[in-house]
Amino acid sequence: MKIISSPLELKEYLKDCNKTVGFVPTMGALHEGHISLIKKAKRENELLVVSIFLNPTQFLKGEDLDKYPKKDEADKKICQLGGVDVLFFPQISDMYGRDEVSLLAPKVRGFVLEGASRAGHFNGVLTIVMKLLNIVNPTRAYFGKKDAQQLNLIALMTKQLFMSVTIVPVDTLRDADGLALSSRNAYLSPSEKKEALKIPASLYIASKMVSKNIMSSKEITNAMREHLAPLEISYVEIVNREFESIKNVELKNTIILVEAKVGETRLLDNIWL
Ligand code: PAJ
Repeated sequence: MKIISSPLELKEYLKDCNKTVGFVPTMGALHEGHISLIKKAKRENELLVVSIFLNPTQFLKGEDLDKYPKKDEADKKICQLGGVDVLFFPQISDMYGRDEVSLLAPKVRGFVLEGASRAGHFNGVLTIVMKLLNIVNPTRAYFGKKDAQQLNLIALMTKQLFMSVTIVPVDTLRDADGLALSSRNAYLSPSEKKEALKIPASLYIASKMVSKNIMSSKEITNAMREHLAPLEISYVEIVNREFESIKNVELKNTIILVEAKVGETRLLDNIWL
């Protein structure tokens, strides 16, 4: 596995490779969820590039940038074992200059849900993903459905900016108890972990209701909120694949999303129906 930190060196390295390139961007502290993206990208492409970059511009003031888990050596091992060909591991100064051009997330989709409580977050995500895609120029780039809004905005960006990469969505990986894997789960104490299970359980309740033909968004979100209490809920929303709120679940066109705080940790999860 080659480890490269300079964007220009990586561009040069990939320039004439004449292979299909799969790309998995991450912020490190890799877990099985990341590994499932890596495995899929490995299967579907001839060359596999993974990036690890804790992107400061997507964290708002007061968020967990400083305490975000860092596991550089373990991450390198995971990539090596996963058959990664090139690990891109840049420093902040490799990725950002002093006076930056940046991308703005779209007015509606970028500022609801996650974007409402974290104004500016998706500008940072889109800007770094754009930079990374321009450096790697992959055939396919892999993103988790767990971050549904992020995935949606990245797909929208690549479409609207006529980029040639194919964005590949990957299903959410959960632990044996149903909790969606996340680097932030490392912040949870054992009792908080138990509390956090209310989140996937609330989504299970929603899917059960739908299977009984209860389609009203209001009824479903009320039942979910009831189950999530006393967690501090940031949002429980039912949207279509364009991220517009819908009054009734539309099969094959619906995402039910939750974000709730467990202790000091914000956790998000969703199901696609
Ligand atoms: P990070 O949180 O490290 O996640 C990297 C990728 O792994 C994202 O596409 C995310 O959706 C996916 N992922 C996380 N948990 C997952 C799970 N349990 N199952 C499946 N996939 C999962 O998301 C980011 O980094 C950043 O915003 C990034 C896109 C790298 C830009 O900085």
